[in-house]
Amino acid sequence: MSSLLPPVITVDGPSGSGKGTICRLLANALGWSLLDSGALYRLTAVAARHHGVSLDDVESLQVMAAHLDVQFLSESADGELKIILEGEEVTQTIRTENVGADASVVAALGPVRQALLQRQRDFAQLPGLIADGRDMGTVVFPEACLKIYLDASAEERASRRYNQLISKGLSASLEDILIDIKSRDDRDMNRTVAPLKPAPNAVILDTTKMTIEEVLEVVLDEAKHKGLR
Ligand code: DC
Repeated sequence: MSSLLPPVITVDGPSGSGKGTICRLLANALGWSLLDSGALYRLTAVAARHHGVSLDDVESLQVMAAHLDVQFLSESADGELKIILEGEEVTQTIRTENVGADASVVAALGPVRQALLQRQRDFAQLPGLIADGRDMGTVVFPEACLKIYLDASAEERASRRYNQLISKGLSASLEDILIDIKSRDDRDMNRTVAPLKPAPNAVILDTTKMTIEEVLEVVLDEAKHKGLR
């Protein structure tokens, strides 16, 4: 990427690898903006439900993705974004397991990915962008100055999600979560369009035995080596 363009750090990896948390902390630490690309796929799935569009109606999904009426509002000091879809707040709605499952179906469709491509690139602005997703380093920002790939065992990721749900007072089954994570991995990694995989020049971190603080420190160190902070 030319030095005139905003610098981008991409963070890719499977569900539950800690990307969301790390990206928020990174964006805060560097004072950069944040692209939560998974939210765009989730929003497309929610918009489809609102408009009664079936998940196999690729043409309508593509049009819907291209014209998503969405705002990401930076509301709180910790960088948590408030998300408004067609005038309605959906910040929590898009995080449900059902929407996640629908998003993974929608995300496997090439025309939908194409419709969301430029919208994702438009997030790049000075002083820089942290891009969180599955294909940030491989497809959306191939010229990014730093590419991170976060991984963790499926068991560890399932246990993180389980603890998250329990701490919110929700009921959950570790076994069901593990099955769901494995099937989502399978769909995200084995689809034909933009499958989840590390970019050839990505820094790969297995976070199975790492704390969030340790991961953040390693990534900030990498950013420092690249002269990004
Ligand atoms: O990161 P997430 O759980 O919010 O992502 C929701 C779904 O969207 C997930 O199944 C993977 C998919 N996704 C994708 O295919 N490409 C991205 N850049 C981000 C998410």
